[in-house]
Parts: sequence; C-alpha cells; structure tokens
Amino acid sequence: MAKMIIAGNWKMYMDIAGSVDLVAGIKNSLPANLSCEVVVCPPFTSLETVNVLIKDSAIKLGAQNMYFEDSGAFTAEISAPMLISVGAKYVILGHSERRAIFGETDELINKKIKKAIVSGLTPIFCIGETLQQREGNITFDVIRSQVVEGLKGISEADVARIVIAYEPVWAIGTGKTASPAQAQEVHAFIRKLLTELYSAATAAGITIQYGGSVKPENAAELLGQPDINGALVGGACLKADSFLKIIQAAK
Ligand code: PGA
Repeated sequence: MAKMIIAGNWKMYMDIAGSVDLVAGIKNSLPANLSCEVVVCPPFTSLETVNVLIKDSAIKLGAQNMYFEDSGAFTAEISAPMLISVGAKYVILGHSERRAIFGETDELINKKIKKAIVSGLTPIFCIGETLQQREGNITFDVIRSQVVEGLKGISEADVARIVIAYEPVWAIGTGKTASPAQAQEVHAFIRKLLTELYSAATAAGITIQYGGSVKPENAAELLGQPDINGALVGGACLKADSFLKIIQAAK
C-alpha cells in the first residue's frame, strides 16, 4: 500500500522569523502517533533553520526545486547534494508555477527527477491540467503525456521511490477544489497508467497526492478516496493550526 504523505509547500512565503514560528507551531502540536508522513517545504533560505528545529521530531524536510547538475557555473541554481547537505529528504519538481511562470518543460523535469532519485532525494513530481485543458476535454491526454515524459527512462525500481502530486492548475490557490470524485477519477487514471508503464504491484505502492486548495474543511473527504494517498498543501500550510488539521484528517 502507498504511504500517506502530507506535505506543505510554503512557496515564496516566510522569512527566517516566520519560518521559525510556523515550524515551531507545527512541531509543538504534532500528534504523537501519526498516521502519515509529514513534510515541510520552506524556501531555500529557511531550509537550514527549519532542519535544526525539526531534528527531534517526525517532520521531514523538503525543498521546492533543484537543478539537475551536481555543481558548476549555474548562477542561482541549487543542486541535489546541496539539498542533502542541509537535511532535505524530499524535493518538489515540476510544480505548475515552475512550468507556467519559469518555462520548465517535461524534458527538464525528467532530468531533475532522475537526478533526485540517484542522489537519494524523493521527488514529489507534480502534474495537472489547466482549466482550458479540462474544458477542452483533454485532461487525460495531458496527464498521460506529463507522466510518460516526466518518467521517461526511469526504471521500475526507481519509480517506486517517487511521489506524484496531482494538482489541477485551476484548483491551485483559487479556492476551487476538485471534488473528491473528480480528483479520484484522475488519481485512478494515473494509477492505471503506472500499471501499464510498470506493474500493478509497483503502481499500488506509489503515493499519489492531491493538491489544489486543500484545507481542513475538505481534507478528510479528499484523503478518504481510494487512490488519494496524501496532499500537497499550499495556502493552508502557512498556518500551523490549519496544516495540523489536515494532518489529522489523514487517517
Ligand atoms: P494551494 O496550493 O493549496 O494554495 O492551492 C497547492 C500547491 O500549489 O501545491
């Protein structure tokens, strides 16, 4: 069975002081027997500080992006070994904001996923259709192509180490959540596609998170769907109490 993972994507929010407050608030009220893995993904500038604060807790550290080379003349980029040296275990790759605003292609994302895997980081590989694509009835074509291109050349043993986040672009930061049935339909499609590309056993073990306006009010129903194995949370992870409520909904 796939592991349930609740991850908070802090995006470009939180300076050091804000990061300290937020992570302390999460850590101090984290339930003792968690039924899911909890990951926080602060901006690069807060990774080190947050890593120190979560040391004796169950919270895991993630980054929001990385480059696919280990080092070199790539001004302003951050590599996998750098993320590992700061304590990161996860890295979000291919987020729709990276794709739409920063021009990241499936090919680039594929290189990053491969590098994360060989480096020992768990990629949280984001996919999702835009509103225009959904209305044009090409959601499944878009998802298929993002999965096939993103996972190109990745072996069955390696794919078992990735997390997929289905985030319909029209639901991100808009307050419009996919209904549990809409989300489940796409999650089941992704799982079937992974079965085709790899095997049923491998597909069943891959965590597929939902993301897009997840909040305390809708988390339990979304997380109760058979193919939804966690959430990638944006807005609602910036307050400890709402992030904790989502963690509690992951039963
Ligand atoms: P949101 O963001 O929860 O604010 O919609 C989710 C994401 O972008 O990962």
